[in-house]
Amino acid sequence: MTRLALVTGTSSGIGAAVARQLLEHGWQVVGVARRTPKFPGANYQHLALDLADVSGAAAAIERQMGARLAERAWERVGLVNNAALAPAGRVQKLEAAELERAYAVNAVMPLWLMGFVLRRRPEGAEVRVVNISSGAAQRPFPGLATYCSTKAALRMAGMVVAAEVEDVGVFSYEPGVVDTEMQRATREMPLEEFPWGATFRQYHTEGRLAAPELPAADIVEFLTADGAERFVERRRGA
Ligand SMILES: NC(=O)c1ccc[n+]([C@@H]2O[C@H](COP(=O)([O-])OP(=O)(O)OC[C@H]3O[C@@H](n4cnc5c(N)ncnc54)[C@H](OP(=O)(O)O)[C@@H]3O)[C@@H](O)[C@H]2O)c1
Repeated sequence: MTRLALVTGTSSGIGAAVARQLLEHGWQVVGVARRTPKFPGANYQHLALDLADVSGAAAAIERQMGARLAERAWERVGLVNNAALAPAGRVQKLEAAELERAYAVNAVMPLWLMGFVLRRRPEGAEVRVVNISSGAAQRPFPGLATYCSTKAALRMAGMVVAAEVEDVGVFSYEPGVVDTEMQRATREMPLEEFPWGATFRQYHTEGRLAAPELPAADIVEFLTADGAERFVERRRGA
């Protein structure tokens, strides 16, 4: 089977593990991040883009990923909306420019990318979408208004896409607490800004963080499986 995936945030953490595992499963992968990662073999193409620059990133993806989609009659096309920002700060301190960047990366571009892939998919190609969600999409964590609200938007966007498009599989996936750069930054947030940071520090001390390879395996399994429901939502291990 010929398979092409677009994965955002491949330069670290969960996105890097997803790209690596997809390549091992014989997928062609186009990755997006500001930093350029290295993966073995010739099946990885990197687009060094800032997803917060919505018009620049959309134009580059339309051109470069569009060309890849048109290259052959791919049988399956995957999209993994993984890149995200998790800025912390009480609502009184939020800066408009930072809010705009987080909404662009976490919600605007992922929704646009779902539309893009569905619009440009080769005839007959099966489309699978994974939106990386979080408990923050459904629970209000003080200090995380930006992150919680963008993750809630992404979750709902995926539900609407699955309601609109008959032949798509959308997976809204919560990876749990994973040992990545984002998780490290979360531990370093001042507790007065983000009280839940104490729990994440405790998880770290107790060695309870998962390796990125674990959620990556669930994501790759969904992308690779024979059949998929139109919308499915799950937390790792549940
Ligand atoms: N770690 C956890 O415990 C946890 C829990 C729940 C959900 N999640 C979710 O899991 C996903 C992956 O996070 P992670 O933990 O693996 O974090 P990470 O290691 O910090 O990775 C984030 C990725 O997003 C990319 N990115 C960030 N800003 C970008 C921008 N402006 N333009 C392009 N790419 C950008 C980064 O690349 P560059 O910096 O090179 O641009 C990086 O590759 C996120 O959606 C996160 O919300 C994580």
